[in-house]
Amino acid sequence: MSRRAREQRAVNVGQGFPDYPIDPRLAACVTEAIDGGFNQYAPMEGEVALRTAIAVKIVAAGGRAVDPESEITVTCGGTESIYSAIQAIVGAGDEAIVFDPSYDAYDPAIRLAGGRCIHIPLAAPHFRYDWQRVRDALTPRTRLIVINNPHNPACTVAGAEDLATLAALIRDRPITVLADEVYEHVQYDGRVHQSVMNHPELKERSYAVYSFGKTLHITGWRVGYCVAPPLLTRELRKVHQFNTFSIAAPLQAAIRLYLQRHPDAWREVAAFFSAKRDLLLARLAGSGLTLPPAAGSYFQLADYSSLGGVLAACNDVEFTERLINEAGVAVIPLSPFYREPPADMRIVRLCVAKLDATLIDAAARISAYTAARTGAGEPS
Ligand SMILES: Cc1ncc(COP(=O)(O)O)c(C=O)c1O
Repeated sequence: MSRRAREQRAVNVGQGFPDYPIDPRLAACVTEAIDGGFNQYAPMEGEVALRTAIAVKIVAAGGRAVDPESEITVTCGGTESIYSAIQAIVGAGDEAIVFDPSYDAYDPAIRLAGGRCIHIPLAAPHFRYDWQRVRDALTPRTRLIVINNPHNPACTVAGAEDLATLAALIRDRPITVLADEVYEHVQYDGRVHQSVMNHPELKERSYAVYSFGKTLHITGWRVGYCVAPPLLTRELRKVHQFNTFSIAAPLQAAIRLYLQRHPDAWREVAAFFSAKRDLLLARLAGSGLTLPPAAGSYFQLADYSSLGGVLAACNDVEFTERLINEAGVAVIPLSPFYREPPADMRIVRLCVAKLDATLIDAAARISAYTAARTGAGEPS
């Protein structure tokens, strides 16, 4: 969609990346790190000082004390943590459960490991876990359950009761949890993040994945990390060592310097994105779209079924095509996040990690388009 957006000169509120500048103090840290000589291979596990800064941040954010030496690994974005954790746990013939709509990195990594990916749907509009369905899907070959909290693209957050149910479900089974928590700080309206890391049972059996791309608005730096108990961390590092080996040294040093100097940077993230979510919601208020306010992640869903007429008759891919071609706005359809998309999927995803001007422009174009297409004279 980003390529199509460039071709069509469309406003891009599709793919999840910021279009605003990064904190200049963070940019300055990169120059400082390069000038300071952080230009050769970093340790395989990640720079010790960065891992220590991460451990400090985890505690400051209300998390448990984590040993930087044996429980934190710096990876190439959250994506590499996900990949390495899957390769570490899933073997030929094993089964791994993901929930659809699901982020696109899970299924291919499971299949590459020789595993079977079992897709369990989260039904719109609430996208809640159906734990009975999960229970029914468990077999002696189930090795991994992947959860994503806050959830992209559903924009939901898991509650304490979800984690409790998950813990009970795997209690006597050889199942590991992969918790994709890259949007840990992007939760709205006072919600408190429920991390597997803070759950008394799940913390012993989970990989928790994080991304500086999301928290510091630097998706292109490709720096993330995985937190897991020592045994799981050892297994993950066996994959990481011969895959990416180690992550860009000056970028690790720059992030560490920034975290040391601005230890509260992550606290601003929720308010920053919630203002953008609210701006988008306000600007789309008259568009005829149904907009359940996002609970978390830096996305917002829009249901266009109530527009009626030709637009509501489009499936979500067709609707997205119309928006990009006719309204000049790139959004993302939801059905590609499913292995078997619901036939009547009428929901698209918008990214709010954009300049206010981008959000205002996108909303104005969408509103003008829906007004024109749902008003008098709409061709049948
Ligand atoms: C749910 C989810 N997990 C993981 C990632 C990957 O994070 P990173 O860019 O750090 O690899 C993303 C990025 O969009 C995401 O939305």
